[in-house]
Amino acid sequence: MKAVILAGGSGTRLYPVTISVNKHFLPIYNKPMIYYPLSLVMLLGIREVLFIVNPDDREAFKKLFGDGSHLGMRIQYKIQERPNGLAEGLILAEDFIGADNVCYMLGDNIFYGHDLVQIMKDAKSEIETAGGACVFGYYVKDPERFGIVEFDEQGNVKSIEEKPANPKSNYAVVGMYFYDNRAVEIAKNVEPSERGELEITSVNEEYLKKGKLKVKLLGRGFAWFDAGTHDSFLEAGEFVATIEKKTGLMVGCIEEIAYNNGWINKEDLLALAKPLKKTDYGKYLIELAEKE
Ligand code: G1P
Repeated sequence: MKAVILAGGSGTRLYPVTISVNKHFLPIYNKPMIYYPLSLVMLLGIREVLFIVNPDDREAFKKLFGDGSHLGMRIQYKIQERPNGLAEGLILAEDFIGADNVCYMLGDNIFYGHDLVQIMKDAKSEIETAGGACVFGYYVKDPERFGIVEFDEQGNVKSIEEKPANPKSNYAVVGMYFYDNRAVEIAKNVEPSERGELEITSVNEEYLKKGKLKVKLLGRGFAWFDAGTHDSFLEAGEFVATIEKKTGLMVGCIEEIAYNNGWINKEDLLALAKPLKKTDYGKYLIELAEKE
């Protein structure tokens, strides 16, 4: 499975902060926002990643991740000319995805929780063996902000709606989606919504119509942030800071994950740490490399 991470968009909900800088570079505590989705993809063992980016941001992304080889990965970039919606990312990623399945991830989504990686790995292998789509529901107090999934009494998915004015449930569909190869064709046939965007929810609805959509719930033990507003951005940063200070372990540290995955060795890790050595982040990497 390959991963596509959507990191374009205009970030208008974070204005004026994001007038001159793309939100994915903003710090969630001690690292850029975009490290968090990338780290999750890496924890799933996925080494091939395509970032969908705005024309103006490609060079900055390249500065951050290059071709990914320093992490033992293969990272590519594809430009989205205009923010035409999340489903367009799948169309732009067509050549990259090729005949593979895809883990599709939103660049401003941050996840944390025990067994999260196992749950996601299970979803990944279900799609790899049985096809279809798998998405995740998370209980929220402000359902009108998200894609919302409705269940019947048996727990079957009844409907899925994008930012409904009258939400039928409190379960938001989070920004991590697993799709089989059909997703690209489905995305190509999506009609723009009222807000003029190709919605990812329309792709999910199509899988639902075909009886091929699975929704797994992430329970109360999980934290999920869509860091695309001033408040959720701040909350995500505070959450990460709290966890990291409490445990001494980092959340979303891509170099650590590459090392633990065996994609880079001790010397590679020390080389990555060197320019960061004035920071706690760099010191953390050095300690990690020197641990037996
Ligand atoms: C997008 C999706 C929405 C989903 C949300 C998760 O919304 O359209 O279905 O629930 O991400 O973060 P956006 O943040 O683009 O408004």
